[in-house]
Amino acid sequence: MNNTVLFSQLISSLSFFTVANTNSEVAVTPQSLVNGDDVKKVLEADKRKEAQLISYEVIDFTKRGDNYACVVSSVKVKYDLHEKQDYVSYVVKLNPCRNFTGYEDLTAIMFKKEAKFYADIVPELNAVLEALNQDPLKFPKCYHYNLTMGKEQIYFEDLRSRDFRMFDRRKGMDELHTPLVLREMARLHAAAYLLQCQNPKEPLEQKFDFLKRDWLNFTDNDAISEMMRQLLHNYLTNSISMLKRVGGYESAIAWVESLIPRVEEILTQGMQSKRFGTINHGDCWNNNILFRYDDEGKPIDVILLDLQICRKASLACDLNYFLYTSLTGSVRQPNLKDFLSTYYSSYKGVLEDAGRDMFFNEDDLMKEFREKNTLGAFFGMMIVPIMLMEPEDVPDMSGKDDSDMDNLVQEFQDKAMDMLNTNPLLKPRFLAIFDDMMETGLIP
Ligand SMILES: *[C@@H]1O[C@H](CO)[C@@H](O)[C@H](O)[C@H]1NC(C)=O
Ligand SMILES: *[C@@H]1O[C@H](CO)[C@@H](O)[C@H](O)[C@H]1NC(C)=O
Ligand SMILES: *[C@@H]1O[C@H](CO)[C@@H](O)[C@H](O)[C@H]1NC(C)=O
Repeated sequence: MNNTVLFSQLISSLSFFTVANTNSEVAVTPQSLVNGDDVKKVLEADKRKEAQLISYEVIDFTKRGDNYACVVSSVKVKYDLHEKQDYVSYVVKLNPCRNFTGYEDLTAIMFKKEAKFYADIVPELNAVLEALNQDPLKFPKCYHYNLTMGKEQIYFEDLRSRDFRMFDRRKGMDELHTPLVLREMARLHAAAYLLQCQNPKEPLEQKFDFLKRDWLNFTDNDAISEMMRQLLHNYLTNSISMLKRVGGYESAIAWVESLIPRVEEILTQGMQSKRFGTINHGDCWNNNILFRYDDEGKPIDVILLDLQICRKASLACDLNYFLYTSLTGSVRQPNLKDFLSTYYSSYKGVLEDAGRDMFFNEDDLMKEFREKNTLGAFFGMMIVPIMLMEPEDVPDMSGKDDSDMDNLVQEFQDKAMDMLNTNPLLKPRFLAIFDDMMETGLIP
């Protein structure tokens, strides 16, 4: 299971900002955070109390380029239950122990979002679905988390043992994979809608206050918000350079330039949707989705992972994020209407089982999707170049600190420009984002 949060890749590879460094004692490795106390808790949550921990071993299995905001590893546990010895493996997500300014606070909120999503939100959503005889949501089982600042850890079932695999992040999702993701995304959104209906007086983002933390206010530290703004800005200017290199995209360049002063507005507009507001996965792209296949290699099941930027926003934010980061234009463009229909029927199915009328139709959905297209384009521009990088080309952040930041930024930008010539996947996928927006008239 290789799960990534792109978002921190962004922070660490593209931030120019340095503020007072408060994090100078980082000398431990993420793997060394795994300790007997936590492993015991994991084992107890999974097996029963009587299970005795005998020993454990940390075994890395992810590649560089797969780990950004957190380090993902595994723990092989030897235990004794009723005088029988056995082994079990868990996946653990660890604080990356990197020495960048602001990292500690950002890591803390992202681990909190994810741990609390599994511990507090998923059981409530599943209770809603269970009452309707619907399957539980397809997330990994989470056994234990430790949110001690600087030493964050979250332990999951090891989905490799259930044959779930990551989709090659450089490929676009096709007509078989995409509907599986959309149906599951719709069930998440619809279950959250029903949960909200149970208690309209208490907004979900009040009950689960971490859902209110968004790109520009992950923490209360203004310096971090400013760093984020700068970072997102850099992505837009990087896209402009890429479009200039390609040539012939003058109207798209003018449009991206017009977005620069509007970054804040674009990111926050999705948060304010009353009608379509629901719990968003927040980071739904290739690397955060696992599939299971039948003997013919056809995908038959899906698991969504990595809730580190879950938030309350319009359902169209997740849809745009996924469809503009994880699909090629050649799959997205001809199938868009069908894809949204698939999402729609899954959503409607949940509401119908609950005896509720659907409160929007397919045209409303398309309209809301279009209204949030700027957000889709925005994340597409950021993520597509990163997604297509070879793991060995992703700037290596281990052992780096603030003084290396400018070099890392430059390295990343040079790489993206090189890739326009060297990686045949990049140009069509990147340009398709703008072609879409020209066709719908968003780019005049
Ligand atoms: C972390 O970075 C600061 C300054 O950027 C440096 O002084 C310190 O030695 C670094 N700590 C480690 C453990 O690398
Ligand atoms: C959480 O981590 C801290 C620091 O490593 C440790 O002292 C504590 O025992 C851990 N808590 C649990 C419940 O394992
Ligand atoms: C963060 O910003 C969003 C969008 O403007 C807002 O809705 C939310 O309340 C803010 N959260 C906090 C904790 O200030």
